[in-house]
Amino acid sequence: KIIPVIMAGGKGTRLWPLSRSSAPKQFIQFVGDQTLFQSTLARVADETLYEPAIVITNEDFRFLAAEQARELGLPLTAIMLEPSARNTAPAVAAAAAFVAEKFGDDAILQVLASDHEIEAGKAYFDAIQTARKTAASGKLVTFGITPTEPSTGYGYIEIGDQLSSGANTVKRFVEKPALPDAEKMLASGGFVWNSGIFMFQAGVVLSEFARFAPAVAEAASAAVAKASGDLDFLRLDEASFSASPNISVDYAIMEKTANAAVVPASFTWSDMGSWDAVWKLGEQDADGNVALGNATLINTKNSLVLSRHGHMAVQGVDGIAVIASEDAVYVGRLDDSQNVGNIVKQLAAAK
Ligand code: GDD
Ligand code: MG
Repeated sequence: KIIPVIMAGGKGTRLWPLSRSSAPKQFIQFVGDQTLFQSTLARVADETLYEPAIVITNEDFRFLAAEQARELGLPLTAIMLEPSARNTAPAVAAAAAFVAEKFGDDAILQVLASDHEIEAGKAYFDAIQTARKTAASGKLVTFGITPTEPSTGYGYIEIGDQLSSGANTVKRFVEKPALPDAEKMLASGGFVWNSGIFMFQAGVVLSEFARFAPAVAEAASAAVAKASGDLDFLRLDEASFSASPNISVDYAIMEKTANAAVVPASFTWSDMGSWDAVWKLGEQDADGNVALGNATLINTKNSLVLSRHGHMAVQGVDGIAVIASEDAVYVGRLDDSQNVGNIVKQLAAAK
């Protein structure tokens, strides 16, 4: 069976003020009746395919994760807790070290982000089967999404030859390119976006970490070896874990490994990373507006209006996000959505 590893330790600062350091985006409800974290858990609930999931998150979010899993009535293998935020590389390395110890080196992990909106139908599970076969042959597998714009918020994968498993080799993995490079890759064709969902054997990914990011590998395996607590909350050793460099799994190993493979995916996928993504995914009315919550829109076009705090009235704007949480308001251009994280940085610096 596949061991699902859900990464749920991100801060989601681009979705301020709805996403907060006390409850980041994966744990809040945008649309529908589940949080993004819950719909991620539900996607790996099939017992014939999966072991109970491993959740890896920050110490600060332990009750959110535990409570939201309990609400769904889904068992977990473990909730692993990071004493400090070091990005996804040490999180994946620690989960892989834990899996290798508990299930063996050949066990296959599926690493999932918890900030995705995915249609988990036949196309999705077909892709999972292809990925599983490919991972069993020693590859580090990702899922490739057909790009629709020169986004600088994603990794790009240049697709190579087809393997016998049905996946393709990776010619090149470019994490978060600058805009001119993203434009070139979109225009040249042959590139897909990295979905941020990975599949590999525990032993394979650990040896790639040891090779390309030895400081991450050492910190993560020591943090697991000296972990305390029970499986409900497995606390990674603070001194060991905090010694890890702060780096994402994409920069640490995916850009460097010679063993990457990609499954071109045809399922509906979206990273709910920024307000423009929420707008694109929402139900747009005839004027291109998405209104969530109580709102009156007059002479307004192509805008996202979301209120969790009373009634909102918006007049005479185009391409704007107006977001009111219970205690803060954000107004900005939708095409500036990638920069909302800067506000959070500035607010933190001002404290
Ligand atoms: N446990 C843990 N610890 N999880 C983390 C941490 C951390 O320090 N930082 C982020 N995460 C979680 C987030 O909660 C999210 O579910 C997932 O890891 C991915 O992190 P993001 O911060 O959302 O990454 P990204 O969207 O900028 O980039 C990644 O995903 C893109 C697709 O969504 C990369 O893999 C890109 O290449 C990819 O295109
Ligand atoms: Mg993301």
